Parts: sequence; structure tokens; C-alpha cells
Amino acid sequence: MLNANTTERKFARFHSLYTRDFKKDAAIYLDLAAKCAGPVLEIGCATGRVTGHLAAAGFEVHGIDTRRPMLEIARRHLEPWAARASVADFDLRRQPLPERYGLILSTLYAFNDLIDVEEQRLFLRHLLRSLAPGGVLAMDLFCPLSYARPEAGEGWREIEHTVDGQRLRVRDLREMLTPLLERRTQRFRVDDESEEELVSHRRYIPPQQAAALLAESGFEKLRVIPGYDLAAAGPVDAPVPAAGPFILVGQI
Ligand SMILES: C[S@@+](CC[C@H](N)C(=O)[O-])C[C@H]1O[C@@H](n2cnc3c(N)ncnc32)[C@H](O)[C@@H]1O
Repeated sequence: MLNANTTERKFARFHSLYTRDFKKDAAIYLDLAAKCAGPVLEIGCATGRVTGHLAAAGFEVHGIDTRRPMLEIARRHLEPWAARASVADFDLRRQPLPERYGLILSTLYAFNDLIDVEEQRLFLRHLLRSLAPGGVLAMDLFCPLSYARPEAGEGWREIEHTVDGQRLRVRDLREMLTPLLERRTQRFRVDDESEEELVSHRRYIPPQQAAALLAESGFEKLRVIPGYDLAAAGPVDAPVPAAGPFILVGQI
């Protein structure tokens, strides 16, 4: 039987291939980086997808994550921009970063990995202490369809696609343990390798609740960007779709 470490390594490779062509969020982060003083911090950089977009565009960027196999892939991915891009194994729940950043990005649902309120508070407290005065935060969050329509129910989904000639297959089950707490079972494989299973949990936060959390933490000028559509950005009290991804942007 394969151990958890092997599954994590295989998942890191799978994640890197699976997300490689996802670019919907990049324009938002590049736009913000151009408007903010540097350097940029990415929380939850995983295999370095967003960090790479920023570094390739000339920005100084540091990525943090807690998953070492992901960071190994990120380091290789970022080699062409090593002078301005770096990553580290760092858990923001534990302490603030030693440096201060003009822009902090919490990308692709990293904050949804925090399951209890105490973890969320620690994360936000340390995030605030890592921001330079006047610094900006962009936080990518998600709210599932099952929150808006509990009757929708979601069974196993199967997704298959090919990246760089490699066939990726994932079977994915999302079970809502409470209206906002999800247990996700992912059975994934690349090409003809054996199927691996990874079980994880995510806490979803509806847009208004997330905005209130950031306001309580001291963020001002809050805006919401629904569905990665910069043209649809508006104040947090504007109606946004109840389900799907949304990015909250705030400033201290
Ligand atoms: C879905 S992944 C994001 C992937 C990546 N940003 C991308 O776009 O491909 C969320 C990441 O957040 C990381 N993460 C969650 N909590 C964290 C924390 N407290 N400190 C640092 N990273 C964290 C997880 O390890 C995970 O790799």
C-alpha cells in the first residue's frame, strides 16, 4: 500500500498538470500588482502557477504553502525567474512573515482550507501583520451550488482531460457535512498510474459573510469580483451570484 507521502507527491504532480491551463484569475492579480507597491506575497502558491505569472511579468513575488511536494514543483517551475521569485514552506496560521508586502494574494480557495473560526482568525491576524501600511489583499473564495440550492445534491463527478500528452482522470465526490462544511474525496490518476485517493475538507464562506470577516479584521474599501470578471467588480453590498468563485479585495 502506498503511504500518505507518496499520495501527496502524486497529488502535487496531478495538481500541477490539472491547473496548468487555468488562467481566469491571472489578469486580476497582474492588474493589482501593477497598481500596488511591491513585493507581492502569494498565500497557497502550491505548484507556483500564479507566482509564475507574476514573476514572468516582472514582479517580485514570494509564495508560501504548507505542502512540500507542491513547493518542490513550484521551485522547478520558477527557475527562469529565480532572481525575483521564491517560495517557502510556511503556515500562515503559525506566525506573520518576517517581511512586509504591498500586495497579498490568497489564491484559489486557500482560505477555504481553514476549517474552524480560530484558524481563520489566526490566519487573518498574521496576514495583516505581513502587509505594509496601505497594503492590499485579494482573497479568492468559493461558495458551492449546494449552498444556494441544497436540493441540487452532488454525486460523483468524473473529469478527464489531456495536458502535454498526459491523460488526467479524477473522480470527485463533494459531501456537505453542514451547509458550509464540505468533505471532498478525490480519486485521481495520471496516465496508467494506479488511482490514488485524497480526502480533504473545505469551509465555504458566502460573499457577504466573507466581507464582514475582512471588515472586522480592519480592511477597508472592500470590493467583490464575482466569477473572475473584473468588469463585474463592485461594492460588497452589490448582489453577486450566491454560488461560485469570487475575489474580495480590501486595503488597510
Ligand atoms: C487550491 S490550492 C491553491 C493552488 C494554487 N494557488 C493554484 O492556483 O494553483 C490552496 C493551497 O493553499 C495552501 N494553504 C492552505 N492553508 C494554508 C496556510 N495556512 N498557509 C499556507 N498555505 C496554505 C494549501 O496547502 C494549498 O496548496
